[in-house]
Amino acid sequence: MASKDVLVGVIGGSGLYHLDNLTLVETVNPETPWGYPSSPISICSLPSGAKVAFVARHGKHHNISPSAVPARANIAALKSLGVRAILAFSAVGSLREEIAPGHFAIPTQIIDRTKGVRPASFFEGTGAVAHAAFGDPFSLKLVRWLETEVEKALVAEGRGVVLHKDKCIVCMEGPQFSTRAESIMYRAWGGDLINMSVLPEAKLAREAELGYALIATATDYDSWRPHSEAVTASQVFQTLQANANTSRHVAASILEDLHLAALQGDLLSEEKGSMSLSIMPRS
Ligand code: ADE
Repeated sequence: MASKDVLVGVIGGSGLYHLDNLTLVETVNPETPWGYPSSPISICSLPSGAKVAFVARHGKHHNISPSAVPARANIAALKSLGVRAILAFSAVGSLREEIAPGHFAIPTQIIDRTKGVRPASFFEGTGAVAHAAFGDPFSLKLVRWLETEVEKALVAEGRGVVLHKDKCIVCMEGPQFSTRAESIMYRAWGGDLINMSVLPEAKLAREAELGYALIATATDYDSWRPHSEAVTASQVFQTLQANANTSRHVAASILEDLHLAALQGDLLSEEKGSMSLSIMPRS
């Protein structure tokens, strides 16, 4: 297994099955108590020699549906490599006119519309009862750092890709997309984005005391617009590739600085110790 000097883990979503401009050092496939991760994990080195670990959430050939992603194994495998914080990427639908397909967003809130079929806790079946704090489901220091750095990277790209901040993402079960009525309801609830993948990933990262932030890339307008076609998979595919290419450029340009910032402060360790007050004492 790789040495424990990998500080950052990247989880790639639909369309993002590998990173660019990094040197592949080794591929590992750690077995965890929750099984194997979605894909073998690529350990890549940055120009400075610092390393990142990459896992493809839906498998390298997109063969794992959102409900079947082995999220516990993914988080546990990354943690076993020494990872302290996870940068997750995901294709999302937009519930707001101003968030156009092709735009990026970094959410700060989540509404859970998964249906309880995804194992969502490491404590299940252990006999221990734990209630992780989840009021702020993303690691806010990391989010604030990313907002500045991702925006800079997008400006440097020069294609006018916009970054939206402080958005609320709805996580639905799928695999079918939402009805028009549901899509309108999510807007009324305050949802700005929708996907099928941020949960239970974010919950498990919190239980594992890992930093976690999501870089969301909009592919479609879901189904709330009265005079537009409701979202289809082919609509999603139209923007997926361009979004994934931009995500790879963004990742390549921020990862080195993220490592540097992490070495100089506690950017990656804001969740460390967060579970110490979350486990119910046995009477
Ligand atoms: N992923 C990309 N677009 C989506 C949508 N409209 N609903 C749920 N997940 C998505």
